Parts: sequence; C-alpha cells; structure tokens
Amino acid sequence: MTARLTGRTALVTGAGSGIGRAIADRFVAEGARVVYADRDGSAAAAAAGSALPLTMDISDEASVEAGYAALAAQGASPDVVVANAGVQLFGHDAKVADVSLETWNRTLAVNLTGTFLTVKHAVRAMLAGGGGSIIVTGSPTGLTGEGADFAAYSSTKGGVHALVRATAMAYARDGIRANTVVPGYTETSLVSTISGDPESRAAIVSRTPLGRPGTPEDVTGIMVYLASDESSYATGAVFRVDGGMTSL
Ligand SMILES: NC(=O)c1ccc[n+]([C@@H]2O[C@H](COP(=O)([O-])OP(=O)(O)OC[C@H]3O[C@@H](n4cnc5c(N)ncnc54)[C@H](O)[C@@H]3O)[C@@H](O)[C@H]2O)c1
Repeated sequence: MTARLTGRTALVTGAGSGIGRAIADRFVAEGARVVYADRDGSAAAAAAGSALPLTMDISDEASVEAGYAALAAQGASPDVVVANAGVQLFGHDAKVADVSLETWNRTLAVNLTGTFLTVKHAVRAMLAGGGGSIIVTGSPTGLTGEGADFAAYSSTKGGVHALVRATAMAYARDGIRANTVVPGYTETSLVSTISGDPESRAAIVSRTPLGRPGTPEDVTGIMVYLASDESSYATGAVFRVDGGMTSL
C-alpha cells in the first residue's frame, strides 16, 4: 500500500471502535501520525498500538480543549481532524411525537454539540497551524427520510451537515477544508439492535441498492482522499459512500 499520508498528523474521534477505528487504522497504514480519541479511554488505548491514545469526551468542551492541548504539548498540530464519534439511542429515540426531551438532549449533546466542539477547536488549531482538512461523519438520516423512527439522531445528522457547510464557507480562504462523509448502514456496535434482528436487518439491506451492509472499511478510501492533498479542491461537499441508499 502506498503511504499517502506520510508526515500528516490526524485526530480521529470515536476511534475506539467501529468506523472511527477503521479510519484511524487506515491512516496509520498510510503513514500518518494518528491520535485515537475516544470517550472510552481503554478502547482508544487498545486500538492504538504505536499511535497516540487520547481520552476525550466530545460533549465536554474542557475535555476537547485538553485533547488538542495535549497534542500541541507534543509539538504537533492536527493536519486532519475526523469528527466521527456519535451515539444512537436505540430503545429511546423514536418517531418525533414519542421522543422524550431527555433523549433529545442526550443525543444532541454528543452528535451535534460534540461535533461542534470538535470542529471549533480543530479550526482554532488549524488557523494557528496554517490550514487543514476537517471531515465529519454524517448519515443518510440527515439527508433523506431514512431516519423517520429516529427523530433525534436524524436531526443531529442534518445539523452536522449544515455545520460542515458553514465551516467550509467561513474558512475556505484560510486553507481549511471541511467535508462530510455519509456511510450507509454499517454493522458496528452502534447498530447492533438492527443487525441482531433478522427482519430489521433484511429491511435495511433491501433499501441498500448494492445489496449488502457496509463495513467500516468501506469508507476508509474516501477518508484517505479527503485527508490528503488529492482532495485540495473539495470543500463543503457531501461524499456519499452508502451502497446507493440515498439515491433510492
Ligand atoms: N453504523 C452505521 O450504520 C452508521 C451509518 C451512518 C453514520 N454512522 C456514524 O458513524 C459514526 C461512528 O459510528 P459507529 O457505527 O462506528 O459506532 P460505534 O459505536 O462503533 O463507535 C462510536 C465510537 O464513538 C465513541 N463515543 C461515543 N460518545 C462519545 C463522546 N461523547 N466522546 C468521544 N467518543 C465518543 C464510542 O465510545 C465509540 O468508540 C457515528 O457518527 C455514526 O452516527 C454510523
């Protein structure tokens, strides 16, 4: 494999498992120095190998600031930040009339506020460091009616798509690019409620034109592209690597 990210420093949130871990591992394989940031510090450490594990709760601004400060203390500035951590509260999130305020607030605290805090401090670090690439993990639920049964989750994903556009437009002349990657249904621990139920699983696969669930590795190629200079003319864009789900 060619090392397309040699010399780059990347911070990936939610790198302890699932999609974030696959991205972080691929970035390591491509030669980057990678910070595996996760609320679950032991997962981040286990995943990291020779890379840098970092316990960071994206819903807590002090924790996010401390994470970037720890990186700066090592003399490093992030060239790439993947704001990927997220939650989906199965069993609580529901059609809008059935969502409690608590579920709404808990979902927003991580997926929308947490992504905002990750991006806010990434921009500050990148302004000081001369630019960079921010990549946010979006969702089909933020683009289509796919998330009708998950009003809180879908709303956060619509929000992060807008946050990416606002970020991209505000900092384009500062050498900071921001883009969204939309995975399809991907079998990680996040969606074990669906993957563990044959009927739900068959239903979502039937809404996926390529006819199979995604794997975390399915989105790593687009992530490497966006983390590298190959994507130097792409900003404010949505890259859908979703098995065709959002084109149905
Ligand atoms: N799995 C899917 O089908 C799918 C589809 C589209 C988008 N996504 C998005 O992909 C992203 C990654 O999801 P995944 O499927 O890999 O899930 P996952 O549960 O396997 O991984 C999520 C990671 O985020 C971490 N995390 C949760 N809250 C955090 C916080 N407050 N601070 C720091 N880390 C935190 C968790 O500890 C976990 O390691 C999420 O944004 C999710 O919404 C997933």
